Amino acid sequence: MNILAVPTPAAWVDAACERWRELLIDHANCEKKAASSALAMIFAYPEDLALTGALSRLAREELRHFEQVSQMMRQVRVEYVRQRPGRYAAALRAALRQHEPARKLDLMCSHALIEARSCERFKLLAGRLCEPLAGFYESLQHSEARHYELYVRLAHGAQAGGDRARVHARLAQLAAVEAELATSPDDQLRFHSGPPRGSV
Ligand SMILES: [Fe+2]
Ligand SMILES: [Fe+2]
Repeated sequence: MNILAVPTPAAWVDAACERWRELLIDHANCEKKAASSALAMIFAYPEDLALTGALSRLAREELRHFEQVSQMMRQVRVEYVRQRPGRYAAALRAALRQHEPARKLDLMCSHALIEARSCERFKLLAGRLCEPLAGFYESLQHSEARHYELYVRLAHGAQAGGDRARVHARLAQLAAVEAELATSPDDQLRFHSGPPRGSV
C-alpha cells in the first residue's frame, strides 16, 4: 500500500545525507511529536476504545524511538540544539476540517501520511548512510510502515457507514497537500521538509 502522491526528490536525499547531524536532531523532535499527537487523539476521542488502545501502544513505541534516537545522538556525538519548526506539520494541519466527524477522519489521514513519509525517507537514508545510522533507519522504517497502516485502518473506522471510497478520496486530497510540502523548495531542511531552496 502506497498512500503518498509523489516520491521524495533526490535533492532532499542528497542534502539529508550531507547534513545528517541536523536531521538527527529533528528526528528526535519528530518522535516526540508522533507520541504527543497520538496522546492528543486519546484525549480527543476517549469513547473510542479501539482507537485509544491502539494509539496508547503507538505512543509508547514512539517514545521508545525517541529514547533510541537520543542514544544514537550520544553514540555519534551529536549535541542537541534547539531548531525552529519546519513548515510541514503546521501547513498540513491547516488543511484539516474543523468540524466533527470530518476532523477525526482528517486527523487519521494526515497522521497516516506523515508516518508514510517517515517510512519512505528512513528507507532512502538507510540505503545511503553508513553504519550505525543505516541499520538504525532500516529498523525504523518497518515500524513507521506499521504505523501508517494503523492510521489508515483507523481512518476507515472513523468514516461513518464504512464508506471506503470516501476515505480514499480524502486521503488522496490530503496526499496532494502533503506532496507539495515534501517536494517544493523549502527554507529549512527537516525530516519532512522539501529540498533546500537553491538545490532544485
Ligand atoms: Fe517513530
Ligand atoms: Fe511512527
